[in-house]
Amino acid sequence: MGEETNYDRHAELKAFDETKVGVKGLVDSGVTKVPRIFIHHPPQINNTTSDSDLNFPVINLDGFDKDPEKRLRIVEEIRVASETWGFFQVVNHGIPIGTLEEMLDGVRRFNDQAPEIRKQYYSRDLSQTMAYNSNFDLYSSPAANWRDSFSCAMAPRTPLPEELPAACREILIEFFNRIMKLGRCLFILLSEALGLSSNHLIDMGCADALAHLCHYYPACPEPDLTIGTTQHSDNDFVTILLQDNVGGLQVHHRNQWVDVPPTPGALVVNHGDLLQLISNDKFKSVEHRVLASKTGPRISVASFFGRDSGTNARVLEPIKELLSDDNPPKYRATTATEYTEFYRRKGLDGTSALVHFRL
Ligand code: OGA
Ligand code: NI
Repeated sequence: MGEETNYDRHAELKAFDETKVGVKGLVDSGVTKVPRIFIHHPPQINNTTSDSDLNFPVINLDGFDKDPEKRLRIVEEIRVASETWGFFQVVNHGIPIGTLEEMLDGVRRFNDQAPEIRKQYYSRDLSQTMAYNSNFDLYSSPAANWRDSFSCAMAPRTPLPEELPAACREILIEFFNRIMKLGRCLFILLSEALGLSSNHLIDMGCADALAHLCHYYPACPEPDLTIGTTQHSDNDFVTILLQDNVGGLQVHHRNQWVDVPPTPGALVVNHGDLLQLISNDKFKSVEHRVLASKTGPRISVASFFGRDSGTNARVLEPIKELLSDDNPPKYRATTATEYTEFYRRKGLDGTSALVHFRL
């Protein structure tokens, strides 16, 4: 360590932040070394599994709403994947591949815009409908990530088209409508997988808020020194992730890092901390990360259900129907707003925010 901690880190973070063009700006300027604000100690790439027996679950949703037998099988597959991995991919989810490709393309178009245009969107005010920045936790995390992102809050308030970036406005709205529909189906199936009535999670408001976080991971000259996204779990109920074909997403499973294989047309689904909290640990919110790579850019869009932009005061606590004398509540009551504030203040530092809400 030593030398890297002996510098005016804050000044370097600020200088980077003030460029307002993120990591892509650095790469476009031709950097061949990773600046020290991005260097992670210890190095992040360890214990990646080579165990090919670990098959990342893929669930085929085809026919769940038409064929009761298929539905039972799908719910059971979701239960097993939820209890063992906390992560799975879905195929035949009803969103056309053209929509997925156009969404990824829209994120690319946004980031390919001239610096002067990108700068106009740059903001650290996450309560805004749309905000573009590099590292939401730039000033609070121990080391920065090799990634730029923009967020779009799509529900409960539907943004006006002009509040969304012109480079990808139409596809954001189309994608949002499709993801909302799929999300509602998943909450129905997850409710059934928890043994609850079909509408339980929707009636609790799990599908009320939806935000897209569009990530751009530029190619990295020294990928072993930094990371695309630090290990973390998500601070929502459920995340649906669209990733391109570059790869790099890994899930922490049985004490090792397992690759989530990019699969054209598939979407990745994972549980967030709030689902773990209300399910009283039945469905875990599993840690994941994204490696930096010499190949890039990598593009992904994470759609967060229940990640609040500051207005959701609904009380969240372990669902009564899931509790018993043998399974008392493990978490105190909170709200999505309180949870989000705590999570953002803490930043991605490799530790869980959820433990702070444990009884
Ligand atoms: C996230 C996330 C993974 C990815 O946004 O929370 O984990 O592949 N993203 O970008
Ligand atoms: Ni995540």
